[in-house]
Amino acid sequence: MSKQRVLTGITTTGTPHLGNYVGAIRPAIAASTDSGTESFLFLADYHALIKCQDPTVVRQSSKEIAATWLALGLDTERAVFYRQSDIPEITELTWILCCNAAKGLMNRAHAYKAAVQANEEAGEDPDFGVTMGLFSYPVLMAADILMFGAHKVPVGRDQIQHVEMARDIAQRFNHNFAPLFTLPEAVVEDHVAVLQGLDGRKMSKSYNNTVPLFLPEKQLRKAINKIKTNLLEPGEPKDADDSTVFQIWSAFASAEETARMRREFEQGIAWGEAKKELFELVNDTLAAARERYLQLMDDPTHIEQVLQRGAERARSFSTPLLAQVRDAVGIAPMR
Ligand code: TRP
Repeated sequence: MSKQRVLTGITTTGTPHLGNYVGAIRPAIAASTDSGTESFLFLADYHALIKCQDPTVVRQSSKEIAATWLALGLDTERAVFYRQSDIPEITELTWILCCNAAKGLMNRAHAYKAAVQANEEAGEDPDFGVTMGLFSYPVLMAADILMFGAHKVPVGRDQIQHVEMARDIAQRFNHNFAPLFTLPEAVVEDHVAVLQGLDGRKMSKSYNNTVPLFLPEKQLRKAINKIKTNLLEPGEPKDADDSTVFQIWSAFASAEETARMRREFEQGIAWGEAKKELFELVNDTLAAARERYLQLMDDPTHIEQVLQRGAERARSFSTPLLAQVRDAVGIAPMR
């Protein structure tokens, strides 16, 4: 059987946090070692431009995110690891797909609809502040996916609709021109924990409740001490299932250690003690990677080399497919 091709993109805005690690980075790195799959992982820097018009932030977070994945041990000889903007075939394909994708389909995209709704509620013009980038975002994402013949696309729930749109767009192209595209499927990893943030809600940059992944030790300790708890005293039994400290613990600990901590909660472990143990566990888990991360951040030339090598490998797939696509739509040399 031929290998399953698994592809996912990481939008380069913001500094990676513990929630990104547990929910996306760790499972993707684990999956990339599976011999039955071929992993394509990329920095979606053209997607970043949709949300962020600050060049310094786009540049810095591309570097941080690349360094993070490398520091955590992504094997770039196995996985194809590249930067979207290094693959010009993706943006070319985006235009060709734009000329086939129905505008009505894009009108239904959640991100666009949410923007329109917010405008209507604020009494603004419905398209106030909506760029063509935001509106066309699902087409760029379809190009990312279809360019590499991905079978499976691991995503968060909010992205399922986009993968389905990619599938629609592929079907329409295959029917109208030539059957060049693989129909992708979204995979939502239900067993992967959605980490809680400092305030107990989902850890997310938009809630401002994150713990950055590679905080220096002291700041990591401080951040963990800020996790919201209740007022129960030491010795009073605590409900593990209602605790962010325990939830984060269980995302990092083995099954035995998780069971032990559950007993400690029942026996009334003090919040200060539980947080101290949590800090030690998270810190021990990440210390070596943090060291590598700092080295990588000091050596952007090395990161660049890795990305260029990844782009070369990625283009060995995208160049021939784009040539077929162009030919299928009638963009071809005179003969
Ligand atoms: N839009 C995705 C997100 O915000 C990131 C992304 C861009 C992506 N292109 C992709 C994910 C292709 C999967 C496949 O999370």
